[in-house]
Amino acid sequence: MNMIMQIPVPKDISLPLPLPGGVLMGILIFSFLLHILFINLMLGSTILTFWFQLKGLKDSDYDVLAREIAATITVNKSMGVVLGVAPLLSINVLYTIYFYSANAMTGYAWISIVPWVALAFLLLYLHKYTWDRFAGNRSFHIAILSLPMLSFLVIPFIFLTNINLMLFPERWNEVHGFLSALALPNVFPRYFHFLAASLALTGLFLFIYFGRKTYTPAHAFNRLQQADLQQMMLNLTLGATGSQLIFGPLLFLTLPSKGVSWSLFFVIVGGVVFALAALVLMWRMQVSGNMAINRRFMLIVASLTVTVGFMGTGRHIYRENALRTHKELMAARTKTHQEAAKKAHENLPLPKETQELLSTINPGQELFQSHCAVCHAAATRLVGPPMTEASAIYAANPEALKKWIKAPGRKRPDYPQMTGFPQLTDQQLTDLSAYVLGNKWN
Ligand code: HEC
Repeated sequence: MNMIMQIPVPKDISLPLPLPGGVLMGILIFSFLLHILFINLMLGSTILTFWFQLKGLKDSDYDVLAREIAATITVNKSMGVVLGVAPLLSINVLYTIYFYSANAMTGYAWISIVPWVALAFLLLYLHKYTWDRFAGNRSFHIAILSLPMLSFLVIPFIFLTNINLMLFPERWNEVHGFLSALALPNVFPRYFHFLAASLALTGLFLFIYFGRKTYTPAHAFNRLQQADLQQMMLNLTLGATGSQLIFGPLLFLTLPSKGVSWSLFFVIVGGVVFALAALVLMWRMQVSGNMAINRRFMLIVASLTVTVGFMGTGRHIYRENALRTHKELMAARTKTHQEAAKKAHENLPLPKETQELLSTINPGQELFQSHCAVCHAAATRLVGPPMTEASAIYAANPEALKKWIKAPGRKRPDYPQMTGFPQLTDQQLTDLSAYVLGNKWN
């Protein structure tokens, strides 16, 4: 109990979701995976470009390889950023309070994403279009790339820290800025898991990119053949996926138990099984030396896709589990608040002027003006008979008048039939008949 008292429990924003929650969750999971795929490729290719450019200082073939890889970064970067809009909006809507709280707690770091992104984009294009210009000064050219690379390493780190911080409201009291948010469990294992995935997916992507039939390098290699490039990329995917055998369990074991459930466990095991299958297939491909993009290779891609699907779902299950108790506390808090607000509103005495104004309004008269006056005047015949005549008929019988207004009969041969007013409530009919019978019509 004491523990719960210390957890900050804000009120939720009491607006309905614009779509059913399940639909939004689906959009969130799917669009996030799509977004992160391109972010993985963007980061992985940047690291590889940097690495091969360094190797290229000694062996020009690697410089060519770096240049070939660099050609893919800007496209993947743009895709990743654009596709990030959907998950960002979905998470804002679904986890408003959690997400905003986390963002607010890491304020400076969070907002620094904007300059980091701007810096990375500009320097990335500068790097891309100055290969020939800085041919004589490769070190400088590499130095240009080091900044976008640093930025691409930092931005996901900030995002991930925030998304992680969001999961642990019971620790929010300890957090004072970005650095202290790093002390929360799981930040680093999660980050390494992400980095390894980036390299694995980039290897797979470049394997296909270099392996396609129509591939011709924009700049000639001296010695490296197409199959060599593919071999290198397959090796990378194999190594990076293999390293997840360490990062994966590390991540799972450092997850605070509050969000761990059997369903999460099985989803993760499902993902691991498919990853292992992909590993074995890749291993056999590597040993056989056959780099063809055939059905066997597509099986690898399919297995890894299933793995990613499982892991994305697991990530979501953990989040929901981890926040369940807090969400319940927050819902209760929101309800109490709304009830208190409603009560206060009901007991609020109206200002004197409003009360006076209200007392001058005769609801029956209002209704007569808006519903009846087009056809009935006081003492002259319009469409209907004059009110002097009409009201006298019901002088002692308001109930019968109410009945007539609701569903008039057919009476006078020289008049058309009156239209009925079945839509009026009983209260309105009472007000109306009180006015009709109480008013002096002449
Ligand atoms: C579209 C025109 C029209 C509107 C609007 C209309 N009336 Fe009439 N009213 C008539 C006509 C026509 C008659 C005569 C019908 C008949 O005698 O068959 C009539 C008849 C009556 C009578 C006499 C009924 C009787 O027993 O002889 C009363 C009372 C009456 N209206 C009240 C109302 C009230 C109150 C309203 C507003 C809620 C209203 N009317 C709206 C056209 C209208």
